[in-house]
Amino acid sequence: MDAKPAYQRILLKLSGEALMGTSDFGISPEVMSFLAREIKDVVASGVQVALVVGGGNIFRGEGLARAGMDRVTGDHMGMLATVINGLALQDAIERVGVPVRVQSALRINEVCEDYIRRKAVRHLEKGRVVVFAAGTGNPFFTTDSAAALRAIEINADLMLKATKVDGIYTADPKKYADARKYDELTYDEALTKRLGVMDQTAMVLCRDHGVRLCVYDMGRPGALKAIVMGDKTIGTRVH
Ligand code: GTP
Repeated sequence: MDAKPAYQRILLKLSGEALMGTSDFGISPEVMSFLAREIKDVVASGVQVALVVGGGNIFRGEGLARAGMDRVTGDHMGMLATVINGLALQDAIERVGVPVRVQSALRINEVCEDYIRRKAVRHLEKGRVVVFAAGTGNPFFTTDSAAALRAIEINADLMLKATKVDGIYTADPKKYADARKYDELTYDEALTKRLGVMDQTAMVLCRDHGVRLCVYDMGRPGALKAIVMGDKTIGTRVH
């Protein structure tokens, strides 16, 4: 018999850039189907999965603002970009046979459901993947903060941040050969050492509400499943 998962409900944060694959814009079909299969494996083990997706592969409010656009308008465009990514994820995950509901923090009823916490929890209990789109619905907040907020709201046992490196390092491992990976960290250490795990708002939210976080390499096949089954050797844990 298969071992029991270590977590009942997880929230996985995917950055928009993670969906691009090797391109510098848009959505890679290969990455989407890889992610869909990884998520399917986790759902099949009985774990409830919620997703928060970024929009940086399409538009990033901060970047648009730097180029002269009004920040709030830029952030609204960024939030809509996360809805596009959410729909793409819904399509990819449903194609591998797992039901998905997309809930948006901005009302856009013709396209997807509104974010309603109790409804999201019911969907999860029924084995559906729930994608939380449009960030927090407010400008000036990152999708990392949205992920922290939703993880707290749905009482996720673990929040995962999928990145391109296998955890948090003392320095950028691509630039410094002697950079060392942390197996474990506290939010306070990450904040004081300015390790850039997530923005400060997201980290303070997680710290103050006891969210356990795992930062891991999303490109490693089987890593997500191994983490939910209790493998503590993968990625960096923040608590
Ligand atoms: P249960 O009531 O638990 O069975 O959930 P359900 O999501 O299957 O039922 P519901 O009748 O709420 O939704 C049926 C379908 O319509 C699902 O694919 C939902 O995602 C979709 N849906 C529900 N509400 C909305 C909405 O406000 N806008 C859009 N675009 N789709 C919606």
